[in-house]
Amino acid sequence: MEPIIKVERLAYSYPRRELVLYDINFEVNKGEVLGIIGPNGAGKSTLCKALNGLVPHFYGGKYGGRVVVAGMEVLEHTVAELSTKVGIVFQDPEEQMSGLALTVWEEVAFGLMMLGFPKEEILKRVKEAIKQVGLEGFEKRSPFELSGGQQQRLAIATVLAVKPDVLVLDEPTAQLDPIGKFEVFSVIKRLAHEGSTIVVVEHEIEELATFADNILLLDQGRVKAYGPARDVLTQVEKLKSLGVDPPSVTELTYLINKEYGANLEVPITLDEAIKIYSEAVGVS
Ligand SMILES: Nc1ncnc2c1ncn2[C@@H]1O[C@H](COP(=O)(O)OP(=O)(O)OP(=O)(O)O)[C@@H](O)[C@H]1O
Ligand SMILES: [Mg+2]
Repeated sequence: MEPIIKVERLAYSYPRRELVLYDINFEVNKGEVLGIIGPNGAGKSTLCKALNGLVPHFYGGKYGGRVVVAGMEVLEHTVAELSTKVGIVFQDPEEQMSGLALTVWEEVAFGLMMLGFPKEEILKRVKEAIKQVGLEGFEKRSPFELSGGQQQRLAIATVLAVKPDVLVLDEPTAQLDPIGKFEVFSVIKRLAHEGSTIVVVEHEIEELATFADNILLLDQGRVKAYGPARDVLTQVEKLKSLGVDPPSVTELTYLINKEYGANLEVPITLDEAIKIYSEAVGVS
């Protein structure tokens, strides 16, 4: 089966700037979650924009290599065409509101109307998308009278309503309080569990570790590690040297193994750690 996303030798610079992406290669299969991690300025957002065509169509600049999403080569399609295949959610919830809709319902319907869907289909899709993000009961509320977490879930709903092949989330929880983060992660995890194809940039590595299949570690525009989440997240020294914190259970176990010559299996999630440690201390 062809992957849904195929990035080959992608290189990019904004107009009159140095390269910000160098020789990027990765693939995402249908139903997989790819987590993108890396320090500030690594090029994570630029890479997201390369998936929906904003890079290079909107920004211009120098572009090399190839990005194919859902069978469309990004260079050969407009951002409008790509928007039906790649739905993107950014970190600032208010900034992504259309500003034209008076209610949550209208906000979700707006994109579908612009795409010319028939009325019955719009009614059906809006209902479904609102349900997917748990905003039932808020249909008549103004988008501006929602909490950050609710607004971000609304942004996800507007994207889901279009039924894109790929959902791209660029630090969707970065500006949210703990409750907002929890709400948005719950939605993302459920979507991942139900088989959505997701690319997510995330600084909350502990959360990411619970649902990412693969992880790509980006630094200064280059891929520093790429592979199954476990393989990347257990490279403790490498992550730390780039200023990225591995999950604390991973670092703890790595250090116990290293400092005390233990030979514990290295967990990447709290659940795994509980299992490994309860076995190690003989209580399970
Ligand atoms: N519109 C732009 N024009 C010129 N340079 C840009 C533009 N947007 C980003 N850059 C530069 O490209 C590089 C990568 O930025 P990008 O926003 O992709 O990084 P990031 O990994 O998402 O960082 P952060 O963690 O801060 O969100 C940075 O050096 C940044 O200054
Ligand atoms: Mg960014």
